Amino acid sequence: MLDLLGNLERTHVCGELRAQDAGKQVILMGWVNRRRDHGNLIFLDLRDRFGITQIVLDRDLTPDGHAKGEAIRPEYVVAAIGKVRLRDALAINPKMPTGEIEIEANEILILNDAKLAPFSPADEAIANEEVRLKYRFLDLRRSEMQRNFMVRHRITLAIRQSLSDQGFLEIETPILNKSTPEGARDFLVPSRVHPGEFYALPQSPQIFKQILMISGFDRYFQIARCFRDEDLRADRQLEFTQVDLEMSFPQQDKVFAVVEKFMVAGFAAAGVTLPAPFPRITYDDAMRNFGSDKPDLRLPGLTDVRSAFTDEALATLQMDPALPVVAFRIPKVGELSRKEREDNHPLFDQKKGAKFVDDFKRLAKGFPEAAAKVRELAGANEADFVIIVAGDPAHHIQASDTKFPGRLSEREINVYLAAGNFRSELAKKYAARHAAFEVTDKVVHEAEAGGEKVVDGSEAFKPIWVTDFPMFELDGATGQWVPAHHPFTAPFDADMANLVSDPASVRANCYDLAMNGLEMGSGSIRIHRKDVQQQIFASLGISEEDARSRFGFFLDALEYGTPPHGGIALGLDRIAMLLAGAPSLREVIAFPKTAKAVDVMVDAPTPATEQQLRELHLRVALKS
Ligand code: AMO
Repeated sequence: MLDLLGNLERTHVCGELRAQDAGKQVILMGWVNRRRDHGNLIFLDLRDRFGITQIVLDRDLTPDGHAKGEAIRPEYVVAAIGKVRLRDALAINPKMPTGEIEIEANEILILNDAKLAPFSPADEAIANEEVRLKYRFLDLRRSEMQRNFMVRHRITLAIRQSLSDQGFLEIETPILNKSTPEGARDFLVPSRVHPGEFYALPQSPQIFKQILMISGFDRYFQIARCFRDEDLRADRQLEFTQVDLEMSFPQQDKVFAVVEKFMVAGFAAAGVTLPAPFPRITYDDAMRNFGSDKPDLRLPGLTDVRSAFTDEALATLQMDPALPVVAFRIPKVGELSRKEREDNHPLFDQKKGAKFVDDFKRLAKGFPEAAAKVRELAGANEADFVIIVAGDPAHHIQASDTKFPGRLSEREINVYLAAGNFRSELAKKYAARHAAFEVTDKVVHEAEAGGEKVVDGSEAFKPIWVTDFPMFELDGATGQWVPAHHPFTAPFDADMANLVSDPASVRANCYDLAMNGLEMGSGSIRIHRKDVQQQIFASLGISEEDARSRFGFFLDALEYGTPPHGGIALGLDRIAMLLAGAPSLREVIAFPKTAKAVDVMVDAPTPATEQQLRELHLRVALKS
């Protein structure tokens, strides 16, 4: 039999009461986290978002309450009415904020019962993810998940406040939209009123925020939901949230200063200090030093070890002398056995026309000086595992050899990328043995525990601006130049002259913010002149007709007094994921999709009904 709530209200939440409240009459409500039956005494751990308080049902004090206590099971929702009292010295739990007190109940109401759950929110052990997502309402009751969303909330609030303080206006842009070119597939929504026509969900508010600058809003921001039909990964969801902003008349430095300010505020809200300004690196240097445009600065980078090898050695080892030879080390892993090394091989991407050497014993037999020199150049000690990556002359890849003064050719980039990817895969694999990763975990953990305390995050979180990206990339499949960022990014003025003659040499006035090997954000100074915008579309092989039909309204708007402008968008989910110390975005998104793009709780997507299809003028033709 369930009890009626009537007009009963709780007086306190479950994480609130302390020793100084002893003697107070209170009413608490919450979920039964655990129940312990000690005969005459039944203990209930009552849980809500704010914490856990111990309730005591004493058969002598409340025979009725005690009888109900015998029927109570985990996850029942109950109200406890009683008096706060100090626990016996031996029963004090210093790990719980409420650990000095308990509630001596004189009445208990069972407000609702609960079926036996497939897993208990009180358990430390975590159920498999499919089950967690199917029963997300239970999973979200776990204290870890509750904490993740409280952290996310605090970060969002602090970022919003910081942007408002910096003069940004929050303006909403449409969800039912026209296609935005961010490089992913669109989600389309059929129109009932316009048969055969579709809205696209926004991949980002890009064009609208630029229009807002044309409209004179000067500084816009939005905590914006974006939708992209792309393959899911740990750091990618179909729908995600951006901290999106745009400003008028900025240079890059101005955008960086705004972002640094709100990032510092957001991190502080999660209890972590982040030193600013953030360091900067050009794309080419990021490639040379890390083999990545989102370098993880917590780990040692790549070292150029070309000088360790004679031409003869390179020829014997079949390393392309025209391409970089780089080494990197995985600290503290030690020399690996042959079996362990072989297990690592699938982590190397052979497609990039690169090869690697990881057998130093063998190298040292044939080329002892080279082997010693490599270790010396890479600064490796005994405990470090060292890998050399070089170009593979036998591996023909379709990549341009074009080299620009001071810039990298595509083949060189491929060698660096192969080394960089291998480095980060191995770093992940050996993360448990990585001091750098442990520091990050420790800071996250301490920040959580501290509440008011602020923890130094300078070693745990390593932000870096990456600048001077190439404007275009050659799409291997089509042979077409495609924008490395999006087609509204301005080229550097100095490179404009090469737009047609030598597109590969053109640098874009765009920038990424990377942190701990993740791309956190991306932005650019935009094109504000119609003639330049048209020229870029032409360089990208977008015909005038196509440009008009896709972006005609925008090209028109550019003609009515467009100020120079620029902006950026940061992945809010990614910020929350880092600060929650979570391995995937799914831990900081309340109702995420699985890797197979499914919401297993609500069971979406599902087929439309015949009537819906009729109204939308659609017919489904499934390929068998
Ligand atoms: P971009 O496409 O680089 O730029 O996106 C900006 C940031 O959004 C986050 N992000 C994602 N997070 C989770 N799941 C996804 N599928 C996903 N895709 C992107 C990343 C990324 O750095 N309009 C431009 C920004 C601008 O130029 O102002 C844009 O959207 O953290």
